[in-house]
Amino acid sequence: MALIPLIATSELPDGTGREVVAVGKIFAVYREGDNYHVLDGICPHAGGPLGKGTLQAGVVTCPWHGWQFHVDSGQHCLSTEICTARWPAEIEDGMICIRLEQPE
Ligand code: FES
Repeated sequence: MALIPLIATSELPDGTGREVVAVGKIFAVYREGDNYHVLDGICPHAGGPLGKGTLQAGVVTCPWHGWQFHVDSGQHCLSTEICTARWPAEIEDGMICIRLEQPE
């Protein structure tokens, strides 16, 4: 699996998130101290930009209609049946990266 760099750790202040486009996908990348989390950037409710949501105490709030997700798991805060995709974040040369199948 290819290691895909998303954003430099230095570009992501503590307690914030960022929308990042890579390999034709939109990702939401978050930082909590030295912990980094990567979710699908498209909200499963109606396609809102999860990377532009507000991050507080490990929970991101979608800016469109307020659905909330735990950034460490992708789990919806109220429904156990809703979970958005997540990828383990790896730090390589100061970059937040994820592993993905090599794009065709
Ligand atoms: S699109 Fe995210 S809460 Fe509606």
